[in-house]
Amino acid sequence: MFKFLIILVYLVVPTTCACTLPVSWDGQWWDSGSWDLTFSHSTQTLTGWRFQVYSSVITDWTCVNQNSSNYLLFRANQYLSVFGADYVAYRCVRYVQLTENSYYYYILADENWGSNYARYHPRALVVVSDSLSDSCQPTNGPSAEEYNVLIKKGYESSVKQWCPIPLLGTFSYTHYNEGVTRCGAGSVVSACPDWTELRFKYSQCPTTQVFSASGIVQCVTSIEYNSTIYTTVFNPDTVTDTTNYDKFTCLAISKVGKMLYISDAKGSCVKGQTATVKTNTGSGTLVLSTYS
Ligand SMILES: *[C@@H]1O[C@H](CO)[C@@H](O)[C@H](O)[C@H]1NC(C)=O
Ligand SMILES: *[C@@H]1O[C@H](CO)[C@@H](O)[C@H](O)[C@H]1NC(C)=O
Repeated sequence: MFKFLIILVYLVVPTTCACTLPVSWDGQWWDSGSWDLTFSHSTQTLTGWRFQVYSSVITDWTCVNQNSSNYLLFRANQYLSVFGADYVAYRCVRYVQLTENSYYYYILADENWGSNYARYHPRALVVVSDSLSDSCQPTNGPSAEEYNVLIKKGYESSVKQWCPIPLLGTFSYTHYNEGVTRCGAGSVVSACPDWTELRFKYSQCPTTQVFSASGIVQCVTSIEYNSTIYTTVFNPDTVTDTTNYDKFTCLAISKVGKMLYISDAKGSCVKGQTATVKTNTGSGTLVLSTYS
């Protein structure tokens, strides 16, 4: 009887630390880090964080643990197979709610050079553990600018926030991209009249900005770190050409005297992004001065 109980407890324990994802998360989201995510409360799953390591592909995850500090631990439903050994990938996140239908989150895991520096925690099958303390404490975790943004599909227009204070105005801008200089005198970008949208006037200078075909994007959130403001903007347009356009752009902004320096990155901000250096995923850098 005693033995039987122990076995029963052993079998039952893993399910007691499962998650309860909010019902309101059910459905599809825009994710600045990986385009599309789908949450299902009935299966406690997330679909859309995709990695490939050699021939193993991971796309589906089950939430296996959480705590009241907004940590969630996801375990991949597919194994990673590396040189004949199987691993289980874990992804721990800490999220912060911005509005009813938008969040930002950090992935608390080390980078994996074998999968394009994606952050997740691979564990050998003999040491799998669904505990938060085993998979949420990376050695080299994300820096402040490495946040990702989630916006619930269907609620895009309700998640606009004020653009950061230095951008609240009307500016002319010069765009620099590997020795090519565009726009300048007569160009116009403005956060007016509502302070929640940036509008690049393509009639004045047609060079594509912030990966937007219309030049109008919504401010979603801003985080200040190391004297730089990292602002995520959302593109409400339908995007089919994902090479030239994107749903999200991160702007690293710094103010020097009367000038604003900005670098962009497609999707989420890039690790170590600074305002004056073009990123690998960016279109270049901008210098803004107050429009006169
Ligand atoms: C939640 O888990 C994280 C990671 O293990 C830990 O740092 C934090 O203190 C936990 N919060 C609570 C309320 O237990
Ligand atoms: C802080 O910003 C400066 C200049 O923008 C950059 O050179 C430096 O690497 C940054 N430091 C950190 C810790 O990100």
